[in-house]
Amino acid sequence: MSAPHTMNLQGRTALITGAATGIGRATALLFAQAGATVVVNHLGRAEAAQEVVRQITAHGGKAWMVEADVTHASAVSAMVAQVQSVGPIDILLNNAGIIQEKPFLETTEDDWDRMLDVDLKSVFLMCRAVLPVMVAQGQGVVINTASDLGYLGRAQFAPYCAAKAGVIGLTRSLAREFAPAIRINAIAPGPVDTAMVSLESMSAETIELELAIPQHRFAQPEEIAATALFLASDLSRFYCGQVLGPNGGSVMP
Ligand SMILES: NC(=O)c1ccc[n+]([C@@H]2O[C@H](COP(=O)([O-])OP(=O)(O)OC[C@H]3O[C@@H](n4cnc5c(N)ncnc54)[C@H](O)[C@@H]3O)[C@@H](O)[C@H]2O)c1
Repeated sequence: MSAPHTMNLQGRTALITGAATGIGRATALLFAQAGATVVVNHLGRAEAAQEVVRQITAHGGKAWMVEADVTHASAVSAMVAQVQSVGPIDILLNNAGIIQEKPFLETTEDDWDRMLDVDLKSVFLMCRAVLPVMVAQGQGVVINTASDLGYLGRAQFAPYCAAKAGVIGLTRSLAREFAPAIRINAIAPGPVDTAMVSLESMSAETIELELAIPQHRFAQPEEIAATALFLASDLSRFYCGQVLGPNGGSVMP
């Protein structure tokens, strides 16, 4: 008889990048509820990361935090070595990201490099460090975070859209290369109610555009975390190289 399909993550360890806030935080809390030990990666957000760990442990879950800049190969290697020294890495969620609204003709080389480093190169670096561990284990799940804008494109957001389209191509390539032992998929959310998409970080016109989707609202981070839990769990075990879109209808492929 085949193993039961379940959303239970009991006995598994999940490493989540950028997990101190937003979607990463919500997913850390949900994975812990599902029984996973969660490693909360952050960069310069010690207090918020500590609070995520505190909330998980207060509810009887297991979590610890590790600071690392996921754009630096040496920091990524050190983090992965640290996590691996504690136990297996069953699930990797590449979630860390940044966004910038800027007319293309004002976009500097530094803007481009920064966006591509955080939103795309980090996924390469994390996968390059974690996949050997998963190959040695003979199993593992990787979830990368793209965006609906990776399909749609958006004026004033060219580097972000290029990076997120890159995440989709990287996910599909790695899914083919590491199947069947390791399952690699992506999530491409629509607008989510986090610090990333706010009137502090974006123009009112962009926010209006974000809301012009069939569901006419932002997702809550927990709604994206639910997709991550599905992809992390055995319920999705025939999913390979897929890009799931909790997006309120912004993209209908
Ligand atoms: N909010 C949205 O509407 C939306 C839509 C589609 C995709 N996404 C993607 O979801 C992911 C999470 O974003 P969010 O909305 O929760 O925003 P957020 O700003 O709350 O989360 C991003 C996290 O990444 C961390 N981070 C940034 N650079 C890092 C680095 N170099 N090393 C380690 N951590 C770093 C930040 O500190 C932050 O905690 C991102 O990849 C984002 O592009 C968000």
